[in-house]
Amino acid sequence: MSSSGTGKPTYPYFSEANSVEAVNARIDRTTANPRLAQVMDALVKHLHAFVKEVEPSHEEWLTGIQFLTDTGHMCTDWRQEFILLSDTLGVSSLVDCVNHRRGNGATENTILGPFHVKDSPRRALGDTICLDGKGEPLVVYSRVMDTSGKPIAGALIDVWQTNDDGFYDVQQKGVQPDMNMRGMFESAADGSLWFRSVRPRYYPIPDDGPVGKLLGALGRHPNRAAHIHMIVEKPGFETVITHIFEPNCQYLREDAVFGVKESLVGNFERIEDPARAAQLGFADSPYFWQVTTDLVLAPAGKT
Ligand code: BEZ
Ligand code: FE
Repeated sequence: MSSSGTGKPTYPYFSEANSVEAVNARIDRTTANPRLAQVMDALVKHLHAFVKEVEPSHEEWLTGIQFLTDTGHMCTDWRQEFILLSDTLGVSSLVDCVNHRRGNGATENTILGPFHVKDSPRRALGDTICLDGKGEPLVVYSRVMDTSGKPIAGALIDVWQTNDDGFYDVQQKGVQPDMNMRGMFESAADGSLWFRSVRPRYYPIPDDGPVGKLLGALGRHPNRAAHIHMIVEKPGFETVITHIFEPNCQYLREDAVFGVKESLVGNFERIEDPARAAQLGFADSPYFWQVTTDLVLAPAGKT
């Protein structure tokens, strides 16, 4: 950009060769928020590189615009199709990765997903979160600790998963009991925590919109690897938003939203012990599943 002598900048004409400079020169760097200017500089640079690589026809460009328009039209208070798009392109997981580069053995984060609800019911240790009686019984044993292995008492652990039909309660209001497969637990004085549930199963992300159509056109399935969601909170520590994944799930290596991390795959064991099953309250089942997992929190403000 040069000055015309009037103090007013003279912007370059647009050409294929200098397209990025032509657009980004228009940012008034004396007034624009510097972070916004940085983001837009990079966005324009990468968007123009994409167009130069792909060389879309006018019709293809319009198809892209129509796809984004349809994605917007699909959004409601309950449905965020743009986040689903971000999820299925791996962008949500990547944003999560760059914001939570934890070391020291702290439990890794993964994506939150759209089915978390605030005010999950408080439950006592050992309670079940399964209110509809469906599914294979599971007991989860855990310990909340800091990165030096010291137990953390009084941590809040918010847990949720689908029922055995593969739906969250909020997707089936009036069909499932309210707050089915949800609970808020508090770790005991020794950091321990246990609750009962059912073995998680894979389920499809909502795929009746433009994102589902795109997955179909790409030969991609919409299934999430079977998991239990958890948020672990304790003042003074970084909140962990995570999952426990079921190791035998056929979609473990091909989660539709790229949420699986090796460290989050649980050690699920099938235990054939009718007496112990009965003791745990799984009276109708000769077996149950058991998973043990440590939840390790990093000090707040380190990542
Ligand atoms: C979930 O795990 O609940 C979820 C995550 C991303 C998209 C849809 C569902
Ligand atoms: Fe989920």
